[in-house]
Formats: sequence, C-alpha cells, structure tokens
Amino acid sequence: MEPIRSVQWSPDGRALRIIDQRRLPAACVELDLRTVDQVRDAISTLAVRGAPAIGVAAAIGLVTALLPFGNESGAVLISKLATFAAVLAAARPTAVNLSWAMARMSACADANPNAGSAELLAVLRAEATAILDEDRAMCEAIGNYGLAFVPDGARVLTHCNAGALATAGIGTALAPVYVAHRLGRRVSVFANETRPLLQGSRLTAWELGRAGIPVTILTDGMAASLMRQREIDIVLVGADRIAANGDTANKIGTYAVAVAARHHGIPFYVCAPRSTVDRTTASGDAITIEQRDADEVRFAGGGVVAPADATVRNPAFDVTPAALITGVITDAGVHLPPYLFTS
Ligand code: MRU
Repeated sequence: MEPIRSVQWSPDGRALRIIDQRRLPAACVELDLRTVDQVRDAISTLAVRGAPAIGVAAAIGLVTALLPFGNESGAVLISKLATFAAVLAAARPTAVNLSWAMARMSACADANPNAGSAELLAVLRAEATAILDEDRAMCEAIGNYGLAFVPDGARVLTHCNAGALATAGIGTALAPVYVAHRLGRRVSVFANETRPLLQGSRLTAWELGRAGIPVTILTDGMAASLMRQREIDIVLVGADRIAANGDTANKIGTYAVAVAARHHGIPFYVCAPRSTVDRTTASGDAITIEQRDADEVRFAGGGVVAPADATVRNPAFDVTPAALITGVITDAGVHLPPYLFTS
C-alpha cells in the first residue's frame, strides 16, 4: 500500500502538497498551496496539522511563497523571507516545530548573505527538503526505539493523532505500532476520539484501519474505565512541545489520560522527534497554549451540540507534568526521569 504523504513537494516543485485533513475520513483530497496566506490558513484551520507536519509544511510553503520573487535581488528575497517566516511561525503558537523550522530556514538564509536570489532559493529548497527527509528518518528511529514497549499482543491507547498524518513519515506515537505491525506482531490500538475536532476518530482510526491495524475508538472520558478493567497495556502519545524539564504539551485531554494511567500503574510514554524538544522553555508553565474558536465546541460534524450562546473553553492543548511521564521516546533514544533536556 502507498505510504501516507501528508506533506510533500508537488511533482513540479513549485507548490506544497498536503492531504486536506479537514475532509478526512469522508474524502482523501490533496491540495497544492503556493502563497503564504494559503499555507498559513491551511495550518491554522488544521488542513495540515500535527507538530512535525506543520513544521515541514511551513518550510516547504515558505520556499513556494518566495518563488515569485526569484527575479528580485537577494536582499529583497531575504526581507520577504523574514516577513513570511514570521507570518507562518505565528499560525499556531504551541507546537515548537513550527517556529523551529522557520528559525532554521532563516538561519540558512543568514548563512548566505551575499547570495543572489536564484542561489538563495536553491539553498532554501535544499533546507526544506532536508527538514522533510529528516522528519521521516526521525519517525523511523522513534519507531525502532519504541518497539521494545510494544510486544506481541500489546494493547496501546493513544490520544489525538500522532501518526503518519501528523508527520512526514510514519508518525511519532504510532511509529512503534507501525514498526511492530511490520514485524508481524499482533498489536491493537484504542484511539480516544479527541473532542472537539475528533483527530482520534477521524484521523487515527482512518490511518490505522488503512494499514490493517485493529483500532477501537473510545469516546473521551472512557479510557480510565478500560484501564481499570486491565484492557490497556501502555499509553503512547505525541507532543507539541517538550520543556527542558520534561513537562509536555499535547492535545487537550492528554493530561487526564496520564493521571488515569498513573493511578492504574500503566506506563505512559511521550513519543516525539528532537525538533519538538524546547530547551529554552524551562517548564510547562511557560508554554503558550493555543485557544481556539468556541464554535469548534458548539458544533460537531456540521450539527449543533450546544446552545448558541453557551460559554465555552477551547484550549487546543494541555500540559502533562514530567512526573506523570514514564519515558520520552525520541529519535535519539529513550529518556527516563529525571528529565533534563539540554542538548
Ligand atoms: O491540534 P493538532 O491536531 O495539531 O494536535 C496534534 C497533537 O496534539 C499531536 O499529538 C502532536 O502534534 C504530535 S503529532 C506527531
């Protein structure tokens, strides 16, 4: 079966090609994006989503947005790059991969101060491609390191979608599941539906079903009860930002899963590439949590599920304290507490 390519270059190299995740699972449709506004809107409306995927998308989208300025001077191109990178970095605040990718692209331009625009565009294209390729490789490494925790028969709980749709490769939290499945291990997954945008039921169930991996959707709030009935062996989740002390921001509801897992003595692992580790943020208290539109909660699947004037809170993420995290699986290995991410 064809691998999922949630973010990639279009075949002619002049557009960012994404799978429009807003339309899954009803339709799997690709979009080609070229301008900075198109890329920013795709990120902020979650057409492309997941921390690693939005970093890759912004890197490729930055280059495609700069292509029309290829006949300008190098200085003009660098000034456009600074403006566009700032716009894209601000599209979503919590996932550090986005600002990380924009900083990396800007540093690449800074390292070539005397280059003309054609040369600069070539260097930036190569850097965006490197970010994409590295993300794929990091997913594989996470899968290989995480394999030890997914023996034959493992029953894994995950929250949100940290799979192929959320990265350029095989995902982060789902990477050990995919690698175990490839090796013939029987592994099954419980996917929390993940209100309000249903990344678990729409996306995780879709991509695992497509891969032939047994998946059962749980409504949010159900997991603790299954833990009590000893139906879950391990929790694997992704991350949007991991602070230096290991506190981890991930999709809202992750914290409740971690509390329940600790209560029931079930291992809780965070899986993320090193690009998600933010060494400049000392603890979770300093992580900015994205607040999203209240109508995402008031409406579901096009239907009204709350009074139109109901007061709503809609933080996209929460922070799980490091004390609840059994281990952090990155592409560099398995990190155990006490966490101190310095390099
Ligand atoms: O709002 P989303 O769908 O972008 O949230 C995604 C998550 O919380 C993921 O778990 C995280 O980005 C890791 S994706 C590998």
